[in-house]
Amino acid sequence: MKAEHLKSEVARRLPAGRYEHVLRVTETAVILAGRFGEDKEKAETASLLHDVAKAMPKEELKRIVVSEGDPSAVLGFHHELWHGPAGAVIARNEFGILDADILAAVRFHTTGRAGMSRLEKIVFVADMIEPGRDFPGADLLRAEAKRSLDSALTACSAHNLQYLASVRAAIHPDTLRCYNDSLSQGKGA
Ligand SMILES: [Fe+2]
Ligand SMILES: [Fe+2]
Repeated sequence: MKAEHLKSEVARRLPAGRYEHVLRVTETAVILAGRFGEDKEKAETASLLHDVAKAMPKEELKRIVVSEGDPSAVLGFHHELWHGPAGAVIARNEFGILDADILAAVRFHTTGRAGMSRLEKIVFVADMIEPGRDFPGADLLRAEAKRSLDSALTACSAHNLQYLASVRAAIHPDTLRCYNDSLSQGKGA
């Protein structure tokens, strides 16, 4: 599917503000792909689709995740974690995306996981550092992403953990695994 067609399909499914976030994530991911040697077209496709399920009602998200057997085991956690796995199902079933790496980048963009591919890391990091993000510490994450994808992943994961703990939210095991794994991957980088 060509990027322009993909954009109009995604725009149709999201409120304007969310769609603008998607475009900023996509621009950021394409820059990161250029910087760290990833396929820019894959980065573009994965980013355009990463929040495709974000505006769907909770019950619909749940239905989709259940239909897949909840392989990421997100249903016991906050519904904010459901749109990644559901989005990957929509990307496959409704957008015809068969590339496993693109689907994983959509599926794990919120939780992260251990052993992320370069593309998964790029979408995960781009989602957090796109220019519209203005939470305290966002500039530090952007600075990390200028020098190393793995150190940016560690910094973004650490930020996630700290934030979740600060609001007393449960931490999905993949979020913790992502952080631990990023520490070992970053060694020697
Ligand atoms: Fe998201
Ligand atoms: Fe996002």
